[in-house]
Amino acid sequence: MSREDRLMEHEYDGIREYDNPTPGWWHAIFIGTVLFSIVYFVFWHFSPMAYSVHEAHEAAVTREFRRLFADLGELAPDERTLLTVTADERWRAVAAGVFTANCAQCHGQRGEGLVGPNLTDDAYKWVKRVEDVYAVVADGAAAGAMPAWNRRLSTNEMILVASYVARMRGQSLSGPRGAEGDAIPPWPSVEAGTP
Ligand code: HEC
Repeated sequence: MSREDRLMEHEYDGIREYDNPTPGWWHAIFIGTVLFSIVYFVFWHFSPMAYSVHEAHEAAVTREFRRLFADLGELAPDERTLLTVTADERWRAVAAGVFTANCAQCHGQRGEGLVGPNLTDDAYKWVKRVEDVYAVVADGAAAGAMPAWNRRLSTNEMILVASYVARMRGQSLSGPRGAEGDAIPPWPSVEAGTP
């Protein structure tokens, strides 16, 4: 008689029952899952090494920015850099992100002007040379009506967004405000190339 054929003592209406215990491997898996759940719970809820999906995402974004900015190096806000850096579409994309996040609410999505002046025409209040675009972005203007960004953005970010803004010029999009300030001479032409 094999082990599976052991009949149990009780009988109801002529029905008898074999005693077939769950096999050892099944117990092993069951106990394994219970132990795993304890380790899992303790690790993800109490361990300092645990992280959330949000933290993982943020870390990935930061890593990507570091990687990008490592390629870029430390930029200087000089004429050549400001006029050429966003000719490269990678930096233009980063600059467009900075503009959308920080500037578009006052200057319009495409720089056509809103609360702040139109950035696509040839008239400027605070700008005579392209370096002034960077200076206005960094230090602000009109007693904070144009906020200073030097505490909120990194130097590279300010240079990228200033370059992006400098290259908006010349489209002369029509916006809700007329030309403000004086028309200034065109930006000097500089050789494009990697900064
Ligand atoms: C809170 C609204 C506001 C935000 C946000 C803002 N600006 Fe301005 N900006 C202004 C105003 C208002 C002026 C004009 C100040 C004046 O009238 O003198 C201005 C002026 C400027 C000028 C000078 C224009 C000229 O005619 O000389 C530049 C360049 C500029 N902003 C770029 C930016 C950039 C780049 C950002 C994002 C990093 C930004 N601004 C964010 C309101 C804003």
